[in-house]
Amino acid sequence: MKIDNFKVEDWFNEYEKLAKYDMADTCVESLSLEELFKIIGNKEEHLSKIMSRKLNYGDIQGSGRLHNAIRSLYNTDMPLTVTHGAIGANNLVMQSIIERGDKVVSVVPTYQQHYSIPKSLGADVKLVFLKEENGWLPDMEELKNVMGNDTKLVCMNNPNNPTGSVMPESMLKQIVEFAQVNGTYILCDEVYRGLEHNGDISKSITELYEKGISTGSMSKVFSLAGLRLGWIVAPEEVMDKIIIHREYNTISVSIPDDYFAALALENKEKIISRNLGKILEGKKIMSDWVKSEPHISWVEPKGGTTCLLKYNSSISSVDLCKKLLDNTGVLFLPASTLEMEGYLRAGYCSDVSKLKQGLELFSEWLG
Ligand SMILES: Cc1ncc(COP(=O)(O)O)c(C=O)c1O
Repeated sequence: MKIDNFKVEDWFNEYEKLAKYDMADTCVESLSLEELFKIIGNKEEHLSKIMSRKLNYGDIQGSGRLHNAIRSLYNTDMPLTVTHGAIGANNLVMQSIIERGDKVVSVVPTYQQHYSIPKSLGADVKLVFLKEENGWLPDMEELKNVMGNDTKLVCMNNPNNPTGSVMPESMLKQIVEFAQVNGTYILCDEVYRGLEHNGDISKSITELYEKGISTGSMSKVFSLAGLRLGWIVAPEEVMDKIIIHREYNTISVSIPDDYFAALALENKEKIISRNLGKILEGKKIMSDWVKSEPHISWVEPKGGTTCLLKYNSSISSVDLCKKLLDNTGVLFLPASTLEMEGYLRAGYCSDVSKLKQGLELFSEWLG
């Protein structure tokens, strides 16, 4: 199976290690186990339980405790399964429902899986770009027209990486109406759901649509990307297919990952509150900087951990990022890796002091 290079990963593989100021991270400052236990307490008790567990394959679909904890994030009875991160979740969904010749509509910019995997499976992939003038939300007329009456699957990501836009419930419901006409599935990658900046958690697509499929993970909302633990919530007929594919590429997730993920999710309010604090602090720094920086503009993000910065020069985003990194050690992600030119993707939720220094250096460099 041929597949396009994953451009964001290629960029990070080549340049991340050279960065002194990494302004491109999509995680809220990741937690160590020590920090996790400071937040949730009872370290000795929890550790002694996991230390005595035999490291066999564990519960194949994930432990009952983990299932209950994931279920608490949703208001739906749809079946769920656990996966190797959201990356494993998205991949499994697509492998399970897309066939050669199917029409797939992907709302971009987004995580590249959402258009490159369908393309590699032989789907006819149509892209619908989020519009800056709409606050990085889709043009609904355009989406409806592109979907037409023959789309098998719509892929979207809400809250959105990279723009930080959050689709309001009314918009999600309208997309569901377009999809219902033809029984189109909607895959909503919800890895940032829970990091809406105003604290109003978005509805999951599975709470709005009987053919909605949600993917999520521990990486962004819970700052535990190192657990490599994600999940899929999907209608039964889709889950039946997913389970078959999952047997070929997952078997189960690791017992420690399952255990620590359940613990973290059982304490979700504390972790989300820590993370929203960091996000709002970073966003204020970014917002003050954008106001003071004549060469840069943005649409202020409303959710997630990233934003797009528009720069007023004709230089390509790759050239800008390479020169900037070379001259200053400041690393952004060129948005051409996300099919957008003239923008940089920035993350603003990791290390606040590095964020401030990096932005100062960037301003000096811009002159
Ligand atoms: C929108 C989106 N989906 C999925 C992923 C993959 O997440 P995970 O670490 O859970 O595999 C990412 C990671 O950056 C992401 O931004």
